Amino acid sequence: MAIRAVVKGVGHYLPDRVVENHEFEKTLDTTDEWIRQRTGIERRHFAAEGENTSDLAIKAAQAALADAGLEADDIDAIVLATSTADLTFPSAATMVQAGLGMTRGYAFDVQAVCAGFVYALANANALVCSGQAKRALVIGAETFSRILDWNDRGTCVLFGDGAGALILEAQHGDGTPADRGILSTDLNSDGRFKDLLYVDGGVSNRSTGYLRMQGNQVFRHAVDKLTSTAETALDRAGLGHGDVDWIVPHQANIRIIQGTAKKMGIPMDKVVVTVQDHGNTSAASIPLAMSVGRQSGKIKSGDVVVTEAIGGGLAWGAAVLRF
Ligand code: UT7
Repeated sequence: MAIRAVVKGVGHYLPDRVVENHEFEKTLDTTDEWIRQRTGIERRHFAAEGENTSDLAIKAAQAALADAGLEADDIDAIVLATSTADLTFPSAATMVQAGLGMTRGYAFDVQAVCAGFVYALANANALVCSGQAKRALVIGAETFSRILDWNDRGTCVLFGDGAGALILEAQHGDGTPADRGILSTDLNSDGRFKDLLYVDGGVSNRSTGYLRMQGNQVFRHAVDKLTSTAETALDRAGLGHGDVDWIVPHQANIRIIQGTAKKMGIPMDKVVVTVQDHGNTSAASIPLAMSVGRQSGKIKSGDVVVTEAIGGGLAWGAAVLRF
């Protein structure tokens, strides 16, 4: 017997404003063709003035609660992954708690940039499996548009805003790979690579700052580290490549997504891809893709899903779950 954190509901929210690649051609030395060819991105959503990360997160959470048929007070813990919280404190998670009308339980943020959702999932899984929460709401929500340097064509065309949410519930399993729920996680970071992807400001520096990235250097690390963490997680779950129904990768660049799938020997028709419509939404990209994958009828109950991400830190990781 084992306690497993089983997915009960999934939901997402994207801000109304859609920005096509062509819009950047007006202000930057770039083209729709360059952005599509190098990244796979065609458009992204940007939050409206006054629309903050917690606002997106609340809407995604409400969609996940509706999908699960649950009320806010059925939730014990909110774990919210973001690098773009509304305020320095309190956490965006406690704002979501209030916004949902949740009067019990506890809420906190996790900050692991683009790997944030995998980190949040691993933390929520630990809370559920150790009996500290019967139901956990795991959210990835970002407003990266607020930290983009609109003069830097190497970064500002890549990112978007959005939120996705997933509800986990404690259920008894047999402790075998046939169980539903999170079967394994693998987390890694290496702070020596800070300069490859960071924001050049922060509270302690009395500034907000802008995202800075040596994109091609991050790219060099991405495929190897993503493949290795996904394979470690699969090993830990007691599963092999042939058991995988879907990869739901962090959506940073179609070439990274394709390279990782190829290295794992998994065909692209088993990969959920949303990068063309969302751009890179950092910690929100995986739950957004999971929700889209679920709504479109791709991901079904019982499917084995591998999710993997890498980003600033560097921080990277993977999780294997059976829906
Ligand atoms: O989610 C967190 C993790 N982040 C990532 O995973 C991002 C990883 N990196 C990438 O996705 C890619 O490295 C980028 C999409 C950021 C860049 O693609 P690349 O193929 O690695 O291009 P590059 O950085 O090597 O730049 C090639 C050329 C450069 O010009 P020169 O030096 O060859 O003349 C850039 O200045 O492309 C130029 N360039 C652009 N040209 C037109 C950079 N950005 C643009 C642009 N439009 N928007």
